[in-house]
Amino acid sequence: MNTKTLIKLYDKCYWNPQTQTVIEDNCSVVLTASMTKLLAILIDHHDKPVSSVDIFFHIWDDYDKEFSPKNIRNLISNLRKKMPSLVINNYYGGRYVLKKYRDNLPDITDYVLEILDQAKNGITITDPNLPDNPIIFVNEAFTELFGYTSEEVIGLNCRFLHGEDRDQLSLKEIQIAVKEERDITATLRNYTKNGELIYNELTISPIFDKKTEKLKYLLGVQKNMTAVQKLIQQIKRML
Ligand SMILES: Cc1cc2nc3c(=O)[nH]c(=O)nc-3n(C[C@H](O)[C@H](O)[C@H](O)COP(=O)(O)O)c2cc1C
Repeated sequence: MNTKTLIKLYDKCYWNPQTQTVIEDNCSVVLTASMTKLLAILIDHHDKPVSSVDIFFHIWDDYDKEFSPKNIRNLISNLRKKMPSLVINNYYGGRYVLKKYRDNLPDITDYVLEILDQAKNGITITDPNLPDNPIIFVNEAFTELFGYTSEEVIGLNCRFLHGEDRDQLSLKEIQIAVKEERDITATLRNYTKNGELIYNELTISPIFDKKTEKLKYLLGVQKNMTAVQKLIQQIKRML
């Protein structure tokens, strides 16, 4: 397969804009002209939320009123049916974005990724088999809570969230639990991109490979406990 003229959508899946086909595992699917145009726009805006209104104006001149928001919804739904592995996330207000997680997490299904992305608490997945255990996935709640984009944090160790505030007993406990490959829950003082203090109730769980039983990923769940901590401190001051 000559992959030069093809655009990689995700692992083993390529798109040929000339022939309007998507080739996955050597099977090809022909897209309609409208789907092809829409896919091209989504790829152009890769990893950036694209509102249906943006899409509408982007193509207004060329295609007149072909893409109404209702049409876009139908096209997206048809694209999803034709390519179930394609990750097109739908945000509130009709925003669509193609996600690049495939390269980082080839063995986690898109369905699971969508569930993680819709969770209310922050979620991080790190790869303990890479140097310094870097982040390979963060969900939307994480980026909203801390104010960083996923591009800014993927590849970093999570310790940047407490930064210089390292005089915290829980950090040693977390370090030992990670080393011993066991679950831990601890509350940490963390800081948003704007420097705002957040009390983060962090739970880390090791995920083992079923076949080899070796540690594969570390899953972190970040719960914002700032309001509760402030209340506790107020009560303590009153007593
Ligand atoms: C999956 C996972 C999620 C983590 N999430 C956070 C976090 O949200 N905030 C934080 O301050 N540290 C977090 N950590 C902890 C740091 O990455 C690191 O393990 C901790 O600082 C202790 O190690 P160190 O002494 O090498 O820095 C997380 C660790 C893992 C494995």
